[in-house]
Amino acid sequence: MTQNDSAKTIRNALAVRFGENISIDENLPGLDELARIASRHVTRRYLAREIDPALLRLLCACALSAPTKSDLQQADIIIVKDTDKRRVIADLIPDQPFIRTAPAFLIFLANGRRLPEISKLRGKPFPNDHLDLFFNASVDAALALATFTRAAEAAGLGCCPISVIRDHAARITDLLALPPRVIPVAGMCVGWPAEAGHISPRLPLECTLHQDRYDEGDLAGRIDAYDRRRAAIHPHRPRDPARWGMAQFYGWSEDKARQYGVPQRADFGAFVRAKGFCLD
Ligand SMILES: Cc1cc2nc3c(=O)[nH]c(=O)nc-3n(C[C@H](O)[C@H](O)[C@H](O)COP(=O)(O)O)c2cc1C
Repeated sequence: MTQNDSAKTIRNALAVRFGENISIDENLPGLDELARIASRHVTRRYLAREIDPALLRLLCACALSAPTKSDLQQADIIIVKDTDKRRVIADLIPDQPFIRTAPAFLIFLANGRRLPEISKLRGKPFPNDHLDLFFNASVDAALALATFTRAAEAAGLGCCPISVIRDHAARITDLLALPPRVIPVAGMCVGWPAEAGHISPRLPLECTLHQDRYDEGDLAGRIDAYDRRRAAIHPHRPRDPARWGMAQFYGWSEDKARQYGVPQRADFGAFVRAKGFCLD
Protein backbone atom coordinates (compact mmCIF):
# COMPACT_ATOMS: atom_id res chain seq x y z
CA MET A 1 0.00 0.00 0.00
CA THR A 2 1.30 3.48 -0.80
CA GLN A 3 1.31 6.17 1.90
CA ASN A 4 -1.57 7.75 0.05
CA ASP A 5 -3.63 4.52 0.08
CA SER A 6 -2.89 3.98 3.77
CA ALA A 7 -3.97 7.51 4.63
CA LYS A 8 -7.19 6.99 2.68
CA THR A 9 -7.88 3.70 4.49
CA ILE A 10 -7.31 5.31 7.89
CA ARG A 11 -9.47 8.33 7.04
CA ASN A 12 -12.36 6.15 5.83
CA ALA A 13 -12.10 3.68 8.72
CA LEU A 14 -12.03 6.36 11.41
CA ALA A 15 -14.89 8.24 9.78
CA VAL A 16 -17.03 5.10 10.16
CA ARG A 17 -15.60 4.37 13.62
CA PHE A 18 -16.06 7.81 15.17
CA GLY A 19 -18.20 9.80 12.73
CA GLU A 20 -15.39 12.33 12.41
CA ASN A 21 -12.84 13.30 9.79
CA ILE A 22 -9.44 12.94 11.40
CA SER A 23 -6.56 14.72 9.74
CA ILE A 24 -3.57 12.62 8.71
CA ASP A 25 -0.07 13.66 7.71
CA GLU A 26 0.62 11.51 4.66
CA ASN A 27 4.37 11.61 5.40
CA LEU A 28 3.94 9.99 8.81
CA PRO A 29 5.95 6.76 9.07
CA GLY A 30 3.99 3.58 9.91
CA LEU A 31 0.78 4.58 8.15
CA ASP A 32 0.35 0.98 6.93
CA GLU A 33 0.28 -0.23 10.54
CA LEU A 34 -2.10 2.54 11.57
CA ALA A 35 -4.35 1.60 8.66
CA ARG A 36 -4.53 -1.98 9.97
CA ILE A 37 -5.26 -0.81 13.51
CA ALA A 38 -7.88 1.74 12.43
CA SER A 39 -9.78 -0.71 10.23
CA ARG A 40 -9.52 -3.83 12.43
CA HIS A 41 -12.54 -5.86 13.49
CA VAL A 42 -13.43 -9.01 15.35
CA THR A 43 -13.49 -12.25 13.29
CA ARG A 44 -15.73 -15.15 14.29
CA ARG A 45 -15.77 -17.26 11.10
CA TYR A 46 -12.63 -19.02 9.90
CA LEU A 47 -11.41 -21.01 6.91
CA ALA A 48 -10.70 -24.71 7.56
CA ARG A 49 -6.99 -24.00 7.29
CA GLU A 50 -4.51 -24.79 10.02
CA ILE A 51 -2.18 -22.29 11.61
CA ASP A 52 1.43 -23.42 11.53
CA PRO A 53 2.49 -24.01 15.18
CA ALA A 54 5.65 -22.00 14.48
CA LEU A 55 3.51 -19.00 13.45
CA LEU A 56 1.38 -19.33 16.60
CA ARG A 57 4.53 -19.43 18.73
CA LEU A 58 5.85 -16.34 16.95
CA LEU A 59 2.58 -14.47 17.60
CA CYS A 60 2.62 -15.49 21.28
CA ALA A 61 6.21 -14.29 21.58
CA CYS A 62 5.14 -10.95 20.05
CA ALA A 63 2.16 -10.79 22.45
CA LEU A 64 4.43 -11.39 25.43
CA SER A 65 6.66 -8.56 24.19
CA ALA A 66 3.89 -6.16 25.27
CA PRO A 67 4.73 -3.59 27.97
CA THR A 68 4.54 -5.10 31.44
CA LYS A 69 4.03 -3.25 34.73
CA SER A 70 7.41 -2.77 36.52
CA ASP A 71 8.86 -5.52 34.29
CA LEU A 72 6.98 -7.97 36.53
CA GLN A 73 5.83 -10.15 33.59
CA GLN A 74 2.51 -11.28 35.08
CA ALA A 75 0.78 -12.53 31.92
CA ASP A 76 0.87 -16.09 30.57
CA ILE A 77 -0.75 -17.77 27.57
CA ILE A 78 -1.97 -21.34 27.25
CA ILE A 79 -2.33 -22.77 23.74
CA VAL A 80 -5.16 -25.31 23.99
CA LYS A 81 -3.97 -27.94 21.52
CA ASP A 82 -5.57 -31.01 23.09
CA THR A 83 -8.80 -31.65 21.16
CA ASP A 84 -10.56 -33.21 24.18
CA LYS A 85 -9.87 -30.13 26.29
CA ARG A 86 -11.05 -27.85 23.49
CA ARG A 87 -14.23 -29.93 23.21
CA VAL A 88 -14.92 -29.58 26.93
CA ILE A 89 -14.57 -25.77 26.69
CA ALA A 90 -16.69 -25.58 23.52
CA ASP A 91 -19.38 -27.75 25.13
CA LEU A 92 -19.54 -25.38 28.11
CA ILE A 93 -20.32 -22.47 25.75
CA PRO A 94 -22.57 -23.85 22.99
CA ASP A 95 -23.80 -20.42 21.86
CA GLN A 96 -20.27 -19.47 20.72
CA PRO A 97 -19.60 -22.15 18.08
CA PHE A 98 -16.40 -20.44 16.90
CA ILE A 99 -14.67 -21.78 20.04
CA ARG A 100 -15.04 -25.24 18.48
CA THR A 101 -14.31 -24.27 14.88
CA ALA A 102 -11.40 -21.83 15.25
CA PRO A 103 -8.14 -23.33 13.96
CA ALA A 104 -6.45 -22.26 17.20
CA PHE A 105 -7.68 -21.49 20.70
CA LEU A 106 -5.64 -19.81 23.42
CA ILE A 107 -6.26 -18.67 26.97
CA PHE A 108 -4.70 -15.53 28.40
CA LEU A 109 -3.91 -15.71 32.10
CA ALA A 110 -3.28 -13.18 34.85
CA ASN A 111 -0.44 -14.59 36.94
CA GLY A 112 -0.25 -13.30 40.50
CA ARG A 113 1.66 -16.39 41.62
CA ARG A 114 5.14 -16.04 40.16
CA LEU A 115 5.99 -12.85 42.03
CA PRO A 116 5.27 -14.10 45.59
CA GLU A 117 6.98 -17.39 44.67
CA ILE A 118 10.08 -15.41 43.61
CA SER A 119 9.96 -13.52 46.92
CA LYS A 120 9.99 -16.87 48.72
CA LEU A 121 12.86 -18.14 46.55
CA ARG A 122 14.87 -15.04 47.38
CA GLY A 123 13.95 -15.16 51.09
CA LYS A 124 12.12 -11.83 51.04
CA PRO A 125 8.83 -10.77 52.64
CA PHE A 126 5.85 -10.14 50.36
CA PRO A 127 3.89 -7.28 51.96
CA ASN A 128 2.05 -6.50 48.68
CA ASP A 129 -0.60 -9.17 48.78
CA HIS A 130 -3.55 -6.87 48.07
CA LEU A 131 -5.82 -5.74 45.24
CA ASP A 132 -2.93 -4.24 43.27
CA LEU A 133 -1.45 -7.72 42.64
CA PHE A 134 -4.68 -8.85 40.98
CA PHE A 135 -5.04 -5.58 39.10
CA ASN A 136 -1.47 -5.51 37.75
CA ALA A 137 -1.63 -9.12 36.61
CA SER A 138 -4.99 -8.52 34.89
CA VAL A 139 -3.68 -5.40 33.12
CA ASP A 140 -0.60 -7.31 31.93
CA ALA A 141 -2.84 -10.09 30.58
CA ALA A 142 -5.02 -7.54 28.78
CA LEU A 143 -1.98 -5.91 27.19
CA ALA A 144 -0.70 -9.30 26.02
CA LEU A 145 -4.16 -10.07 24.60
CA ALA A 146 -4.35 -6.78 22.71
CA THR A 147 -0.81 -7.19 21.40
CA PHE A 148 -1.57 -10.74 20.28
CA THR A 149 -4.57 -9.46 18.32
CA ARG A 150 -2.48 -6.80 16.65
CA ALA A 151 0.28 -9.28 15.75
CA ALA A 152 -2.18 -11.87 14.43
CA GLU A 153 -4.05 -9.31 12.34
CA ALA A 154 -0.74 -8.07 10.90
CA ALA A 155 -0.10 -11.64 9.74
CA GLY A 156 -3.53 -11.77 8.05
CA LEU A 157 -5.29 -13.77 10.77
CA GLY A 158 -8.56 -12.88 12.48
CA CYS A 159 -9.28 -13.09 16.23
CA CYS A 160 -12.12 -13.17 18.70
CA PRO A 161 -11.35 -12.80 22.41
CA ILE A 162 -13.66 -14.88 24.62
CA SER A 163 -14.47 -13.50 28.06
CA VAL A 164 -17.35 -15.96 28.45
CA ILE A 165 -14.82 -18.58 29.59
CA ARG A 166 -14.96 -16.75 32.93
CA ASP A 167 -18.55 -17.97 33.31
CA HIS A 168 -16.85 -21.33 33.82
CA ALA A 169 -13.72 -20.17 35.59
CA ALA A 170 -13.59 -23.03 38.11
CA ARG A 171 -14.01 -25.67 35.39
CA ILE A 172 -11.36 -24.02 33.19
CA THR A 173 -9.05 -23.88 36.21
CA ASP A 174 -9.33 -27.66 36.75
CA LEU A 175 -9.04 -28.43 33.04
CA LEU A 176 -5.85 -26.40 32.60
CA ALA A 177 -4.38 -27.14 36.05
CA LEU A 178 -4.17 -23.46 36.97
CA PRO A 179 -2.44 -23.07 40.34
CA PRO A 180 -3.47 -20.59 43.06
CA ARG A 181 -3.35 -16.92 41.99
CA VAL A 182 -3.38 -17.81 38.27
CA ILE A 183 -6.73 -16.98 36.69
CA PRO A 184 -8.14 -16.98 33.14
CA VAL A 185 -8.77 -13.47 31.77
CA ALA A 186 -10.02 -14.36 28.29
CA GLY A 187 -9.86 -17.04 25.64
CA MET A 188 -8.86 -16.23 22.08
CA CYS A 189 -10.13 -17.81 18.85
CA VAL A 190 -7.67 -17.40 15.98
CA GLY A 191 -7.90 -18.33 12.32
CA TRP A 192 -7.75 -17.26 8.70
CA PRO A 193 -10.84 -15.08 8.13
CA ALA A 194 -13.77 -16.56 6.22
CA GLU A 195 -15.79 -13.32 6.41
CA ALA A 196 -15.18 -9.76 5.35
CA GLY A 197 -16.30 -8.39 8.73
CA HIS A 198 -17.11 -4.77 9.36
CA ILE A 199 -15.83 -1.79 11.29
CA SER A 200 -17.80 -1.37 14.47
CA PRO A 201 -18.58 2.31 15.18
CA ARG A 202 -17.32 3.51 18.57
CA LEU A 203 -18.55 6.27 20.86
CA PRO A 204 -17.53 9.68 19.53
CA LEU A 205 -14.15 10.96 20.67
CA GLU A 206 -15.93 13.79 22.47
CA CYS A 207 -17.17 11.08 24.88
CA THR A 208 -13.95 9.14 25.36
CA LEU A 209 -11.05 11.49 24.59
CA HIS A 210 -10.56 14.31 27.09
CA GLN A 211 -8.19 17.19 27.48
CA ASP A 212 -6.81 18.26 30.86
CA ARG A 213 -9.98 17.21 32.71
CA TYR A 214 -12.73 14.65 32.44
CA ASP A 215 -15.68 16.10 30.59
CA GLU A 216 -18.92 14.13 30.39
CA GLY A 217 -20.80 16.93 28.62
CA ASP A 218 -24.35 16.14 27.57
CA LEU A 219 -24.01 12.39 28.05
CA ALA A 220 -27.62 11.56 27.18
CA GLY A 221 -27.49 13.64 23.98
CA ARG A 222 -24.13 12.22 22.94
CA ILE A 223 -25.27 8.63 23.52
CA ASP A 224 -28.46 9.25 21.61
CA ALA A 225 -26.59 10.70 18.63
CA TYR A 226 -24.15 7.76 18.70
CA ASP A 227 -27.00 5.24 18.85
CA ARG A 228 -28.56 6.76 15.75
CA ARG A 229 -25.30 7.00 13.80
CA ARG A 230 -24.46 3.40 14.67
CA ALA A 231 -27.93 2.04 13.92
CA ALA A 232 -27.76 3.63 10.45
CA ILE A 233 -24.55 1.67 9.74
CA HIS A 234 -25.13 -1.62 11.61
CA PRO A 235 -28.41 -1.97 13.48
CA HIS A 236 -28.54 -4.33 16.48
CA ARG A 237 -30.88 -7.30 16.64
CA PRO A 238 -33.05 -6.66 19.73
CA ARG A 239 -31.86 -8.69 22.72
CA ASP A 240 -34.41 -10.85 24.54
CA PRO A 241 -37.67 -9.09 23.47
CA ALA A 242 -39.67 -11.65 25.50
CA ARG A 243 -38.13 -10.18 28.65
CA TRP A 244 -37.67 -6.51 27.72
CA GLY A 245 -40.39 -5.91 25.14
CA MET A 246 -39.98 -3.93 21.93
CA ALA A 247 -38.14 -0.61 22.08
CA GLN A 248 -39.41 2.21 19.90
CA PHE A 249 -35.86 2.70 18.74
CA TYR A 250 -33.26 0.00 19.39
CA GLY A 251 -29.70 1.24 19.59
CA TRP A 252 -26.37 0.33 21.18
CA SER A 253 -27.26 1.84 24.57
CA GLU A 254 -30.55 -0.08 24.76
CA ASP A 255 -28.63 -3.24 23.89
CA LYS A 256 -25.93 -2.69 26.54
CA ALA A 257 -28.51 -1.70 29.17
CA ARG A 258 -30.38 -4.96 28.45
CA GLN A 259 -27.14 -6.97 28.48
CA TYR A 260 -26.19 -5.60 31.89
CA GLY A 261 -29.77 -5.72 33.16
CA VAL A 262 -29.25 -9.38 34.05
CA PRO A 263 -26.63 -10.63 36.52
CA GLN A 264 -23.43 -11.78 34.89
CA ARG A 265 -20.58 -13.58 36.66
CA ALA A 266 -21.70 -12.30 40.06
CA ASP A 267 -19.61 -15.13 41.55
CA PHE A 268 -16.36 -14.05 39.87
CA GLY A 269 -15.10 -12.14 42.93
CA ALA A 270 -15.64 -15.23 45.07
CA PHE A 271 -13.74 -17.30 42.48
CA VAL A 272 -10.81 -14.84 42.42
CA ARG A 273 -10.66 -14.83 46.25
CA ALA A 274 -10.86 -18.62 46.35
CA LYS A 275 -7.89 -18.68 43.95
CA GLY A 276 -5.91 -16.90 46.63
CA PHE A 277 -6.01 -13.27 45.52
CA CYS A 278 -6.64 -10.69 48.21
CA LEU A 279 -8.99 -8.03 46.80
CA ASP A 280 -8.73 -5.53 49.69
C1 LIG B 1 -11.74 -8.85 26.61
C2 LIG B 1 -12.70 -9.18 25.49
C3 LIG B 1 -13.58 -10.23 25.65
C4 LIG B 1 -14.46 -10.57 24.61
N1 LIG B 1 -15.29 -11.65 24.77
C5 LIG B 1 -16.07 -12.05 23.74
C6 LIG B 1 -16.86 -13.24 23.86
O1 LIG B 1 -16.87 -13.91 24.89
N2 LIG B 1 -17.60 -13.61 22.79
C7 LIG B 1 -17.60 -12.90 21.62
O2 LIG B 1 -18.29 -13.31 20.68
N3 LIG B 1 -16.88 -11.76 21.48
C8 LIG B 1 -16.10 -11.33 22.51
N4 LIG B 1 -15.33 -10.20 22.38
C9 LIG B 1 -15.33 -9.47 21.10
C10 LIG B 1 -16.15 -8.17 21.24
O3 LIG B 1 -17.51 -8.51 21.26
C11 LIG B 1 -15.80 -7.23 20.08
O4 LIG B 1 -14.45 -6.85 20.18
C12 LIG B 1 -16.71 -6.00 20.13
O5 LIG B 1 -18.03 -6.36 19.75
C13 LIG B 1 -16.25 -4.87 19.24
O6 LIG B 1 -16.10 -5.31 17.92
P1 LIG B 1 -14.74 -5.04 17.14
O7 LIG B 1 -13.64 -5.77 17.86
O8 LIG B 1 -14.97 -5.59 15.75
O9 LIG B 1 -14.51 -3.57 17.13
C14 LIG B 1 -14.48 -9.83 23.40
C15 LIG B 1 -13.59 -8.75 23.27
C16 LIG B 1 -12.71 -8.42 24.30
C17 LIG B 1 -11.75 -7.27 24.13
